[in-house]
Amino acid sequence: MSAIQVPTSRYWWKQPLDRVEGTWIAIALVWCLIMFFMMPYWHVYGKQNLANEAYRTTPDAYQKRAQEVVDKYTVRTETDLKIPVVHPPAGSDVYLIARLWQWWPMIELEEGKTYRLHLMSMDWLHGFSLQPENINIEVHPGYDHVVTITPTNAGTYGIVCNEYCGIMHQTMASRLYVVK
Ligand code: CUA
Repeated sequence: MSAIQVPTSRYWWKQPLDRVEGTWIAIALVWCLIMFFMMPYWHVYGKQNLANEAYRTTPDAYQKRAQEVVDKYTVRTETDLKIPVVHPPAGSDVYLIARLWQWWPMIELEEGKTYRLHLMSMDWLHGFSLQPENINIEVHPGYDHVVTITPTNAGTYGIVCNEYCGIMHQTMASRLYVVK
C-alpha cells in the first residue's frame, strides 16, 4: 500500500496491530507520561525555576514606586547619563524600569540577602537577560513582574535586552552589582 494509490482493502485500518508497532506505541506513551510529570516535579525540586508573581499596573504607578526607591537609596550615579545606583535594604522591593532604550536605575544588592525584584516596561516588550547567569524574563508593559531573588555570588553582572525592541535595541544594557 502506498499513500498515492487507493488501498486494496477498504477497511485497511481494521487490520490487527503488529506487535512491534504496539510495543513502540506503548514505549512512546510511557515516555510522554514521564516527560509530562517531570515538568511539575522539576519545577518544585529542580531549583531552576524562578519564584514569579505578576500584577497589573500602570506606567505612572510603577514609575512612582521606582522613583521612591531611587530617592531613598541612591548611593552614587554612573555613566554620562548619571544613572542612579540604588542599594536598597535587604528584604525590600527593588524596581527596575525597562524603556526605550534603557534600564533604570542600576541596582546594587548584597550577597546572600533576599530581595523582591520588580520588572516592568514603560512602552513595549523588552527582555531582561542577566549575564552570565542566563536568567531570562520577558518584561511587559502593564505588568509588574516580581521575582524573588537571593544573589549567591558577589560580582558585576550584565543586564541586556534580549527582545528586539527597536533601532537602539543593541544599546539597551546595564549592570547589576552584588556586593559582600
Ligand atoms: Cu529593549 Cu531590546
